[in-house]
Amino acid sequence: MMQRDLARKAFFNERAEQWMDMWYKDDETGAYTRHDKAFMRLFSLMDLREGDTVLDVGCGSGVLVPYILKAIGPGGTLTEVDYAEKMIEENRRRHADPRVQFVVARADELEVEEGSVSAVICFSCFPHFQNKAETLAGLQRALTPDGRLFIAHFDSSEDLNAHHRKHECVMHDHLPDAADMRRLMEEARLTVEDFIDEKGFYFIAARKA
Ligand SMILES: C[S@@+](CC[C@H](N)C(=O)[O-])C[C@H]1O[C@@H](n2cnc3c(N)ncnc32)[C@H](O)[C@@H]1O
Repeated sequence: MMQRDLARKAFFNERAEQWMDMWYKDDETGAYTRHDKAFMRLFSLMDLREGDTVLDVGCGSGVLVPYILKAIGPGGTLTEVDYAEKMIEENRRRHADPRVQFVVARADELEVEEGSVSAVICFSCFPHFQNKAETLAGLQRALTPDGRLFIAHFDSSEDLNAHHRKHECVMHDHLPDAADMRRLMEEARLTVEDFIDEKGFYFIAARKA
């Protein structure tokens, strides 16, 4: 692993225990509801179904887990993937549920049975992936023939890139511009069906081509 990637992984490991409090806690109520409205919008756009098989890549300490489990119901399954082992440790501690499997792995080295996943979600993590084309190609292979892949942030690409520039470990982690994202998707044989990039919300939905 390159030096910068090791530093990035250490950066996330060091923050794993506080991650949920830092980003999702409502300071007044103490509940993890700070971004509830944006999550409602995201889950309505993704339209996950009962029984879906979901891969949550770059999952961190698992902020999406309760929302995903609610959407996929008792018959669905969820795989939480992150390369920072402390994030997975924290995630596992918070989300003991027989439908959830936890995997420590790099997004570009993930071993998933071909055609086995109905939805891949990359929430708040895509800029950090080093080999974006390889990562997308691998995730595309994991999808079922009608499977979908989502990339989302609660920031516009402009604000997100500005935010990353302020932190040394992630200052080179950019969300590519719209034309490059579309090209990356096309090269990975993913058809973009929805693309939103506005203040406070970024969302791409793509289907296996
Ligand atoms: C900004 S955090 C977001 C975590 C979580 N999705 C959330 O929104 O709370 C980015 C996550 O991506 C993970 N990550 C970064 N590069 C990765 C890679 N190449 N493979 C797997 N996980 C990665 C980090 O360890 C970190 O947990």
